[in-house]
Amino acid sequence: MTTYIILLGPPGAGKGTQAQAISETLRLPHISSGDIFRENLKKETELGKLAAGFMNKGELVPDDVTIAMIRERLTRSDCQAGALLDGFPRTPAQAVALSNMLEELGGQVAAVPYISVPEPVLIERLTGRWTCRQAGHIFHEKYNPSRQPGRCDFDGSELYQREDDKAETVTRRIRVYLEQTKPLIDYYQQLGCLIEVDGTLPIEQVTANLLAALPANE
Ligand code: AP5
Repeated sequence: MTTYIILLGPPGAGKGTQAQAISETLRLPHISSGDIFRENLKKETELGKLAAGFMNKGELVPDDVTIAMIRERLTRSDCQAGALLDGFPRTPAQAVALSNMLEELGGQVAAVPYISVPEPVLIERLTGRWTCRQAGHIFHEKYNPSRQPGRCDFDGSELYQREDDKAETVTRRIRVYLEQTKPLIDYYQQLGCLIEVDGTLPIEQVTANLLAALPANE
């Protein structure tokens, strides 16, 4: 059975943190559209340069570019059993494109966990986030500090603060989320696959609640 799980939630809700925690348990590859854009930027590809222009302003990368990128990623061999999607879809047009893609691939969305977190908490989380340069592992200076300051616990690489985590860009990203991504909550609720998870709880508790709520773990 091909299983696709979509992590939905505002910037800073903990989608990446939870995807890292549950991807192995679910045996699904973690596919983050933001990570793919950042990887391209690191390699200085045309896609990376184009995406950076939008990301650094807190805007969304155009749908056609993003959809083509995810389509290519989902057809790779590691996605034969499905995928854990983080950050995609993010607009109604992307959600429709994903549905068409999954039909072609012979799969369907099994669940859409929506990690809910109020706005003031999001700002504190994003401005205190540190990300590993090598593989994108996520830390927080207060809520999830690395053992050695400035170094990743998993691969020892340098931790950095994302360009789009500056306070003014964070505010813009949250506004863009409210305008363009929040409508997907209703969309997936109507399809009967939305699962709301309280994202304000400690990281391990959110992970446990998430795994307990997913259909495969019932
Ligand atoms: P993307 O990288 O997807 O960013 P995002 O959705 O804004 O989400 P974040 O990565 O900021 O947050 P998160 O929910 O993963 O939280 P995290 O786990 O890190 O996208 C970046 C940009 O790329 C977009 O703005 C856009 O330009 C472009 N883009 C990407 N996808 C696109 C698409 N589909 N279409 C168009 N454009 C697209 O946690 C945040 C912090 O909180 C961390 O420090 C963490 O340690 C901490 N934390 C997590 N959980 C908890 C907890 N329970 N308690 C306390 N602290 C916690």
